[in-house]
Amino acid sequence: MQLSFAAPQSVGSGAWVVGATEGPALSDAARKADGAAGGAISRAIAVSKFTGKRAQALEVLAPVGVKASRIVLVGLGKASEFDRNAAENAAAETVGRLAKTGETQITFQIEVPKGAKLKPATLAAHLAMGARLKSYSFNHYRTKDLADHETTLKSAVIATSDASGARKAWNALDAVAQGMFLARDLVNEPPNVLSPAEFASRCRALTKLGVKVEVLGEAQMKKLGMGALLGVGQGSERESQLVVMQWSGARGKNATPVAFVGKGVCFDSGGLSLKTGAGMIGMKGDMGGAAAVTGAIRALASRKARVNAVGVIGLVENMPSGSAQRPDDVVKSMSGQTIEVLNTDAEGRLVLADALTYTQRNFKPKFVIDLATLTGAVLVALGTENAGLFSNDDRLAKRIHEAGQAVDEPVWRLPLGAGYDKMIRSKIADMKNITGTTNAGSIAAAQFLQRFVEKGQAWAHLDIAGTAWQDGEQKALAPSWGVGWGVRLLDRLVADHYEG
Ligand code: BES
Ligand code: MN
Ligand code: ZN
Repeated sequence: MQLSFAAPQSVGSGAWVVGATEGPALSDAARKADGAAGGAISRAIAVSKFTGKRAQALEVLAPVGVKASRIVLVGLGKASEFDRNAAENAAAETVGRLAKTGETQITFQIEVPKGAKLKPATLAAHLAMGARLKSYSFNHYRTKDLADHETTLKSAVIATSDASGARKAWNALDAVAQGMFLARDLVNEPPNVLSPAEFASRCRALTKLGVKVEVLGEAQMKKLGMGALLGVGQGSERESQLVVMQWSGARGKNATPVAFVGKGVCFDSGGLSLKTGAGMIGMKGDMGGAAAVTGAIRALASRKARVNAVGVIGLVENMPSGSAQRPDDVVKSMSGQTIEVLNTDAEGRLVLADALTYTQRNFKPKFVIDLATLTGAVLVALGTENAGLFSNDDRLAKRIHEAGQAVDEPVWRLPLGAGYDKMIRSKIADMKNITGTTNAGSIAAAQFLQRFVEKGQAWAHLDIAGTAWQDGEQKALAPSWGVGWGVRLLDRLVADHYEG
């Protein structure tokens, strides 16, 4: 869908979208539309339950007296609560509603409601963002009935009193949307297509945005002593990869980078500790952390963020075979610490251990944040609303929490502590990869990761097993299984604190 910004003008064709806050209180544009249509909107309100609440909308088709094919009155909620997220949701609601109606064109005439604290340009850019994020679809593997799955919408014009300001704000958001779409694509791709090598080659494509991309294969990782990561991939026919992406946008070329690390298990069968048939479905998405990191690097590069950022992703396939890692194996990690692998399905922490060590030793970053679809237990604790946050640094944790709130990717902090660390003591090695109980499963995994955090290093871990993909009701702005979760949060965190 093509997006553009223009000064308000009369709507010659397509859908004419106007807003109302709770009451309903019609905006100026809505009143104008109502007048042009001979009061059709007022009459429609009178015979409906429309009150202007968020996520409500009222459509008047083919109204007499206007050239537009329909007028859509969209609920904006309470004026005092109308913010960027509400704007995005209103646009997404509209796009979702019109996607398959045969409509091709939309004009948004939504003004800043009186009492709302938004600049016109900001509002317009976030309307565009909501429309763009909702317009995503993943239909690469359909050969039939495409028309049932693709939107007919071709273009949206966002009317605004500050079109040039809106365009500027939109450029940055557009970059973020592209990063999110990359992450969604990667999560949605089936695992026969998206092998570790294929994932790596999609990362290589970021070179054209100025990202430096290095790919390490198994031989190089072996030299580095990455026994933990390599053990996970050793049962697969497909080679494990470590991808290192560097975006250098800071004014000082040698400025200390920020670092993101992602779990990239392209398929998690469980390995010899095999999952059940039902438990395996969806495990193509077990690279959601790596997808978020890749998407975030893409976003930062394409908006030319003034920051040095590193993304390191460990790409493996966790498979059972004659060469697979066994429960009871002991592996040696790059850090030198040994791990007793008691369950080959607790593989993400093994991959992250070596990726974390590599990242810290090579880049000495300001902070390192890892993202991983790490534990089913985080779904038990937090469901699909919040990702789990763990950190050894209160300031970093607070910043991540705030960034999540700002972009509607909320996180909730869970504790770490010496008492929990005892759970992963091993009888014969430095640690074991499971606890032997189901208690505090997400915390135990985080404790494991913390053992690979070096002295003085600020670190946070986001367990995104509940948020990286969606099986039930869809999120307002995410119309596909792969959500692209984390890209926006990381971009926002950088924008708020680490650029300049
Ligand atoms: N990738 C899974 C975690 C997961 C489970 C993500 C369900 C999304 C939905 C991870 O590798 C895993 O299998 N974790 C085990 C850990 C256990 C063996 C300690 C789990 O959560 O059951
Ligand atoms: Mn697993
Ligand atoms: Zn996994």
